[in-house]
Amino acid sequence: MDPTKTKAWEDLSALSSTDGQARLRDLFAEDEDRFEQLSFEAAGLFLDASKTRVTHRAMDALFALAGETGVEERRRRMFAGEAINETEGRAVLHVALRDNRHGKYSVDGKDPMPEIEAVRERMKSFTDAVTSGERKGATGKPLTTVVNIGIGGSDLGPVMVTEALRPYHIDGREVHFVSNVDGTHLSEVLRRIDPERTLFTIASKTFTTQETMTNARSARDWFLKQGGSEADIAKHFVALSTNHQATAEFGIDPENVFGFWDWVGGRYSLWSAIGLPIALTVGWDSFEDLLSGAHAMDRHFEEAPLRENLPIVMGLVGLWHRTFLDMPAVAVLPYDQSLSRLPAYLQQADMESNGKGRRLDGSKVTYETGPIVFGEPGTNGQHAFYQLIHQGTTEILCEFIAPAISHNPLGDHHEKLLANFLAQPEALMVGVTEDEARAQLKEQGASDEEADRLAPHKAFPGNRPSVSILMQKLTPQTLGALIALYEHKIFVQGAVWGVNSYDQFGVELGKVLAKPILAELKGEADAEHDRSTSGLIARIRSLRAD
Ligand code: F6P
Repeated sequence: MDPTKTKAWEDLSALSSTDGQARLRDLFAEDEDRFEQLSFEAAGLFLDASKTRVTHRAMDALFALAGETGVEERRRRMFAGEAINETEGRAVLHVALRDNRHGKYSVDGKDPMPEIEAVRERMKSFTDAVTSGERKGATGKPLTTVVNIGIGGSDLGPVMVTEALRPYHIDGREVHFVSNVDGTHLSEVLRRIDPERTLFTIASKTFTTQETMTNARSARDWFLKQGGSEADIAKHFVALSTNHQATAEFGIDPENVFGFWDWVGGRYSLWSAIGLPIALTVGWDSFEDLLSGAHAMDRHFEEAPLRENLPIVMGLVGLWHRTFLDMPAVAVLPYDQSLSRLPAYLQQADMESNGKGRRLDGSKVTYETGPIVFGEPGTNGQHAFYQLIHQGTTEILCEFIAPAISHNPLGDHHEKLLANFLAQPEALMVGVTEDEARAQLKEQGASDEEADRLAPHKAFPGNRPSVSILMQKLTPQTLGALIALYEHKIFVQGAVWGVNSYDQFGVELGKVLAKPILAELKGEADAEHDRSTSGLIARIRSLRAD
């Protein structure tokens, strides 16, 4: 449906120029309970949306919009296993991967749980055998190093989670991730590892992705050159994929293939066999805790009333800023070094899901959809791009994330980190008027002339919105809940915008065009291009010939 035809959309459009322009300082002054009313808690996460530019009237209209656009019905259809990925005719059931309930889900009339459990059981036995040292490499040495070869959803989730769960790593285990087709990525990792102790996990849903297949073949060649035999490959290479024919053609024994299903989207797949490198690094129990944290958020999303529902609230608040207040970007700002890869992970999760310009029926959208997602851990980002967020001409919705307790309590580091986590949203909200800036300058001894000259530069517009997400500690459970919160937030926004959040045709054209160019660069063919591309190809050829 076209959401602009709803009454709530009309109301929100009107509110965007009134309530949407209200000053947060005033909203807090007028309403003592604003923080209590606009903060929410579930599955170990506390979400404060009170520093965003919503009013109670805007929230009412946003909930009405969710109702009119059928968000709850689409949620029901997702959990029921209906093919809500309509362009690809697939169900979207990553929630089932972190559940245990038989009879809850159905795909094409069949309960997927027995198959999910069977793969989980194999992953568990394999993980236990490798981490205990019982399963050894071809020369009898324990497999202490994992090299995951995959890209996009077959890389970003496992990278982000293994980094986030560093305190849970099993002693003595090493994990590396190779994604880029740039030979530097693989070479740098191969230089550092011992083939006799290395297990390669080749992760690709389709098992056709150029980067992954190229890296996998090169890793295999390297392994053989290091003295491994063809027979040894079975002990050192496993595949994580839905494409059993392609894994067999690659030469991977079916015993060494951990499968999943077409109803698991690539960017929603870390809960499936794609999570094997996570389990091999943190152990099976922690991997299960990650699943259970996500499941707690799933239950909350499915069962909690709209007005108390974190993913619904976060999705609607984000949509208000993106579509009605025209803010182009979301900054993901984890105040936790171990979440350093979360922004990159969410870039794919959000931008590949909701970076769409057509509704399900093919009609063009006439409003802004998925935001640009970027970020860095605090406090590093503060010394890089926060200048623009505070004083630039573009307003950006910021999402601050922090654990109250650190895994590495070192002196007062964590208190300092938290002080910044709290001060930045406060500064963004309150700002500094020119008068305040002038008065401060004078207090510091500036002359009237000097104060007048510098005040405009030292003023902060303020009223810049942010969400804060707090947890007690970053554990497998809270991390699982956090990722699921974002997955469902993306779902909610996609449902209101009426787009299919689960396909990604936008990544195809570049892949198709790269094929003939590759043949040209190898000198095997010539092709017609625009003059710029032809000029660049000629220039590359001449640079390589020098
Ligand atoms: O970037 C496009 C994409 O299809 C992603 O959606 C996916 O996560 C990634 O490529 C990797 O795909 P695969 O797991 O099939 O190798």
